[in-house]
Formats: sequence, structure tokens, C-alpha cells
Amino acid sequence: MINKRRVAIVGVGAVGATTAYTLALNGACSEIILYDIVSDIAVGKAIDIAQSTGYSPRGTLIRAVVKPEEIVDCDIVIVTAGVPRKKDMSRADLLNINANIVKEVSLNIKKYSPEAIIICVSNPLDVMNFVIQKVTGWNRDRIIGMSGALDSLRMVYQIYKKLGFGASQIRAMVIGEHGENMIPYPEISDVGGVPLTKLLSKRDIEEIVQKTKYGGAEIVKYLKTSAFYAPGRAIAVMVEAILNDENKIISSSVILDGEYGYRGVSIGVPVIIGRSGVKKIIELDFDEVIREKFDLAVKSIKDNIAILENSDFFNK
Ligand code: LAC
Repeated sequence: MINKRRVAIVGVGAVGATTAYTLALNGACSEIILYDIVSDIAVGKAIDIAQSTGYSPRGTLIRAVVKPEEIVDCDIVIVTAGVPRKKDMSRADLLNINANIVKEVSLNIKKYSPEAIIICVSNPLDVMNFVIQKVTGWNRDRIIGMSGALDSLRMVYQIYKKLGFGASQIRAMVIGEHGENMIPYPEISDVGGVPLTKLLSKRDIEEIVQKTKYGGAEIVKYLKTSAFYAPGRAIAVMVEAILNDENKIISSSVILDGEYGYRGVSIGVPVIIGRSGVKKIIELDFDEVIREKFDLAVKSIKDNIAILENSDFFNK
């Protein structure tokens, strides 16, 4: 295990840059390395973010690198690389393009930061997390997909909007796919220890569930691009949980190996995150409704993995 508190971010679009900025504000890392296929973006943002750290509680060395082989001996590498879907692109096209980008990135991480923990942010998230594990062949504990950390923030936001009280006391759980088959889980969400189901009507809760599921899409509608502040914050929380060995429960996309009755898939479930990555996968007792939703989410992710398998992606 490396203990340099050195974190690399591959792909410095809005999400990557906001993650770096958030980490730098908190002084969570000793060093942040930015890499982007467009080098000037990485260099320019590294200077800007570095200049913001003069008022931070702890100094952070922030630098850009121009070659993947310079991403050396990192504790954590955050992968945000990938392209968004364009007008005439099918889902399968997008899947293949991003899977190939993520594959190349993963092989470089394996080579130059062999002890890293990888946090996957590229979409479709669950499939890309699965790809990283397959390509690196690493122990699944070191490959973590950022999903629930963000989706639960979005649920917390909806709950607070509805309630108008308990702002810092809201804990929300979201599992399943980071996409259409996301599963906000009100039955195990609470405000100051009071179950959400005690505080709100079924109808209000259903509205929260729906709005949470489309929380990302709502922002895209206004911005014409994906969200980045909440994603950046969510990623930073995961980084801190790892570097500080916080052993925190954070719903994340992880590769199942028999848990919940599945293997060969990555999907969002509550896990304990600490210095070595995923320390434990927590198995909840689902009722029938959640079990059905979970099965559907697994099917959707597995269908996408099958698209890659059918194009011989994993053998190339
Ligand atoms: C979102 C991206 C970060 O949900 O996956 O906004």
C-alpha cells in the first residue's frame, strides 16, 4: 500500500476539476495529479486550482502531467474519462467507445500505479466499473464506482426540499444502477434517526424517489451538460474515506461475487470504505418490491456487459 496521499484524476472535465478543487479546499491530499488527453486543459486547471489553495487548511501540491506514465505510485486514481452520447450514437456505440477509453486508462494505471485504489466515475458507471476490474484483473476491493455517494446527496436534497427541516440530519440510501434502474430506498433513510416513512406520506416519498432518479437528468436539461459540483463533492468524500481509513458506509458500485445472489456484475450496494478500499459489502434484507427492482437493475447492467462481450471487447 502506498501512503503518499497522492491522488490522480484522469479526465479533467468539469467533474474531474471540481473534484480536485474540493479536495484542495479541504487539504485532503498531499498531492493531486491532473491528466487529460487535452494537456493544456490539465495544465491550466492545475495552475488555477493550485493558486486557490493558499487559504486551505493544509497545502496540496497540484500538478498536471502530460503522459499516462507520469501517473506514478498513486494511492488513488479517479477515472472520469469518456465521451458523452452524441445525437447519432447508439447506446452500444457509446458503450464501446467509453469501454475502450476506460480500458486504455486502466492498463496504464495497472502499470504505473500498481497499488492504487481506482474510483470509477465514467459512464455508464456500473458497466465501466466492471470493465476496470476485468481489464486490471485486480482484487475487486480496489475498484469502486462512484454512484450512491452522489445519488444519496440528490435524495437528501429532495427530502430537505419537502420537509424544510433537519438539513444536516438527513441520511438517504440509494442502491442499484447509476441510471434508469436506480433504487432510492426510503425505508432505510432517516432524519435525525426518525424513519423517513414516519415523516412523509407515501405520495411525497414517491415524488422524492422519482425526482432522485432523474436528479442528474434534471440538471442536464438546464445546463445542457452533466452536473459537477455534487459529483465532485461525492467523489471527495470517498477519497477522504479511503485516505483517512474512515470505515464509512457509502453506497457504491462494486463487483458482486455471490452477494445478493449475483456475480459477474457491478452494482450499487452499501459497502464499508476504508484504507484498503471496499472492506465489506453489506447485505440488506430486501422486501419483495426492492428485490424486484434490484433484479431489474442487475439485468439492465448485465445486458450492457453482454453488448461488450458480444463485440469481443474483453478478448481483444
Ligand atoms: C451524474 C454523473 C456524474 O449523475 O454520473 O451527474
